[in-house]
Amino acid sequence: MADALLHIENVRAGYGDAVVIDDIGFSLGEGESLAVLGRNGMGKTTLILTLMGQTNLVAGRMSMRGVRFERSPSNARVAMGLGWAPQERGIFASLTVEENLAVAARAGHWNAARTFELFPSLAERRRNFGNQLSGGEQQMLAIARALMTNPALLLLDEPLEGLAPIIVEEMTRTIRKLAAEGVGFILVEQHTQLALGLTRQAIILERGRIVFKGASQELIDDPSVLVRYVGLRGERGLVPAAPR
Ligand SMILES: Nc1ncnc2c1ncn2[C@@H]1O[C@H](COP(=O)(O)OP(=O)(O)OP(=O)(O)O)[C@@H](O)[C@H]1O
Ligand SMILES: [Mg+2]
Repeated sequence: MADALLHIENVRAGYGDAVVIDDIGFSLGEGESLAVLGRNGMGKTTLILTLMGQTNLVAGRMSMRGVRFERSPSNARVAMGLGWAPQERGIFASLTVEENLAVAARAGHWNAARTFELFPSLAERRRNFGNQLSGGEQQMLAIARALMTNPALLLLDEPLEGLAPIIVEEMTRTIRKLAAEGVGFILVEQHTQLALGLTRQAIILERGRIVFKGASQELIDDPSVLVRYVGLRGERGLVPAAPR
């Protein structure tokens, strides 16, 4: 079997002495997508930060295309193909949109012209400073910047959080387009139904552990696991069977 694009196993990590995620393991192939679901504080961002080398890794292995990276610094992980769009977006306020993109650039398919094609509204704001952007534009810029690193796998941490419904729709279309182009991604989301519609695989985290791992479609077909662990927050069209 060919090496997975990303393979992690028995990962235990946290902050200082506090262990936040434990016994985490999954594999993703080239161009595949994974939804990471779970309520607030369950360890979703900690998992992403751990992939990027920003937490205290206590145990576990992580590899990309067969190359171990759990002891590598963050910049080496970017070079290996992890493209991170952080939950708090991390836009440089005093740089323009173009400059924000330029500082992230690594050679490859994705350049400023291609990312502007993908995010036309960002193209119109190319000479605006980071602190002049709306929340939606900042989120687009965060993803565009991750793309500029020409990743094999995008890490999207709640890209739809706090966005107006019309922007959520636009962003959803964009993520679908990226998937169709073969860009693999891990999508952390509280918009559960949207996330399941965009991904092939899903995991649910509960207090830092995986309580579901399987096909996204499984959770769409039988939402009982979702209702139990994620609840109905922010959902439309997900109605649990009423207890009788
Ligand atoms: N820098 C930190 N130092 C110590 N504990 C932290 C730190 N960041 C997060 N935690 C704790 O780790 C746990 C998991 O947090 P995490 O941010 O991974 O959750 P999350 O699932 O991403 O939540 P949300 O949906 O609100 O973004 C929480 O109990 C949180 O308080
Ligand atoms: Mg988070």
